[in-house]
Amino acid sequence: MAILVTGGAGYIGSHTCVELLNAGYDIVVVDNLSNSSAESLLRVTELTGKEFAFYPISLNNRPDMEGIFRNHRIEAVIHLAGLKAVGESVSVPLRYYHNNISGSIVLCEIMQEYGVKKIVFSSSATVYGTSEHVPITENAPLGATNAYGRTKLMIEEIMRDLHVSDSTWSIALLRYFNPIGAHESGRLGEDPNGIPNNLMPYITQVAVGGLKELQVYGDDYATTDGTGVRDYIHVVDLAQGHLKALEKVMETTGVEAYNLGTGRGYSVLEMVQTFERVTGRSVPYKIASRRPGDIGVCYSDPTKAERELGWIAHKGIDEMCLDSWRWQTSNPRGYVVENEMLANI
Ligand code: WQD
Repeated sequence: MAILVTGGAGYIGSHTCVELLNAGYDIVVVDNLSNSSAESLLRVTELTGKEFAFYPISLNNRPDMEGIFRNHRIEAVIHLAGLKAVGESVSVPLRYYHNNISGSIVLCEIMQEYGVKKIVFSSSATVYGTSEHVPITENAPLGATNAYGRTKLMIEEIMRDLHVSDSTWSIALLRYFNPIGAHESGRLGEDPNGIPNNLMPYITQVAVGGLKELQVYGDDYATTDGTGVRDYIHVVDLAQGHLKALEKVMETTGVEAYNLGTGRGYSVLEMVQTFERVTGRSVPYKIASRRPGDIGVCYSDPTKAERELGWIAHKGIDEMCLDSWRWQTSNPRGYVVENEMLANI
């Protein structure tokens, strides 16, 4: 029996595959590589010493997806595949709705057809919209403010309806806060296309000299230093949360949402100061205007995951910054491998 990991070549996916393999699971990976590299999967094997089946296909490719369920005994699914850039989702919403929602519907239809009714879904704290009541609990009001967040919210609702129609489904909805950091080996990490949207990959590219300075989006929020506060969680802690959620869906039925965060918030300037302290590198920055759509403060109450999954985040922001820096310095061009770099000379 195997665990199907959709989006397994991505930032969260590759780290989750390492934890699954190290825990003794057999896995099958599906990823269309639209925002990831197959190199990450070679490194998953390098780090775990384990081989696994990989299919470079899209979830919307129904014949190929059915082939996977025909050729492998899939026991459960960890569903991470999806487009995830908030800004991009505003300019090309139909691409996000087709890829994220239609892809999820095809996946669930095939799961139903093959009697596979256990799934862990990669949701996001963006489903809480502009909730400024912190710490945020799972029963906080939901309301996304962009197409990306709405795809996550709609998929959560689709899965809830699926369970209403058939109570033998077992579904965990994992609401990620802000994943950062990298595997301690420096062999896996976040490899954004082009100029990073997110804070930590931007910081590491400034620190390595790839970008001139960090734009700090606003210093007039109601926070200690005026800059935005977020709940940063180490990607390895996040990956381990998927294992705990998988164990839960394997032994129960029902639908439950869980916040995966640390329960602590740090401001942008606190992250810059921490990064500079632990790496010894300077991160020049300039205060800029607020980024449209940003909220001032967002951090989780993760006690439901601790209570019901037996999961808690262990790694602090020092380790998150150090591991991010190790990934950046060991992979200045992300997953572009040497022979590709040589070919570009
Ligand atoms: C963090 C803080 C910015 C960049 C996003 C998605 C969310 C999730 C995680 C998928 C904010 C500030 C950032 C920069 C800055 N992704 N910042 N300068 O916006 O909290 O969440 O990523 O699920 O869906 O919305 O993360 O890293 O972009 O921003 O000042 O160059 O850093 O204003 O306060 P965010 P982020």
